Amino acid sequence: MIIAVDGPLASGKGTIARTLAAKFALPYLDTGSLYRATALAVLDAGDDPADAKAAVRAAQGLKADAIDESRIRTADAGAAASKVAVIPEVREALYKVQRDFAYQPGGAILDGRDIGTVICPDADVKLFVVADAETRARRRWMELQAKGDTISYEEMLSQTLERDARDAQRSDAPMQAAEDATLLDTTSLSIDAAVAAAIAIVEKRQKA
Ligand code: DC
Repeated sequence: MIIAVDGPLASGKGTIARTLAAKFALPYLDTGSLYRATALAVLDAGDDPADAKAAVRAAQGLKADAIDESRIRTADAGAAASKVAVIPEVREALYKVQRDFAYQPGGAILDGRDIGTVICPDADVKLFVVADAETRARRRWMELQAKGDTISYEEMLSQTLERDARDAQRSDAPMQAAEDATLLDTTSLSIDAAVAAAIAIVEKRQKA
């Protein structure tokens, strides 16, 4: 079984995907980490994430199994990831590793922005997880604050809106729900309720 979980920043898709992976015993790939690690490599080299040459070089040289989790989860890495993700050759360089992961024997679960539309258009289950922008900005701001990041809520909200627009409006693999995706709005759901709703969607699909 292949499960695709897409949606915008802090919609809850990561928590949902990780829990589904444990529940259904499937290997899990957070595809945003590939874009974040690419962006971080560009920043580390002193280059601009919007510089296509530098970004493509970083994506082609990425070692997906050696990503430094402790460094990619910052607001700056997220913003830079959204910039490198606009570049079609970057997406192309990261395509194979995602496809190989998805189509391993036994299936997999992947979360991102274009899993149900581009990476796994024939996934068995597709979820598109949403929540209103203020709720998402507050969630991500609280997470970052707990890690010592000094970003303000206002700045987090403005970054959220900026990233939503960039991710949804790019010409190559824009963030959008696949036609056959099930929409899950987590705005007023607790984490437990959101996860329970996602499990119910997968179980319903399995029975169908
Ligand atoms: O899910 P995330 O916040 O870690 O993703 C960071 C950025 O990476 C996101 O703003 C856009 C890009 N991304 C993408 O374009 N396609 C994906 N499948 C996953 C992430």
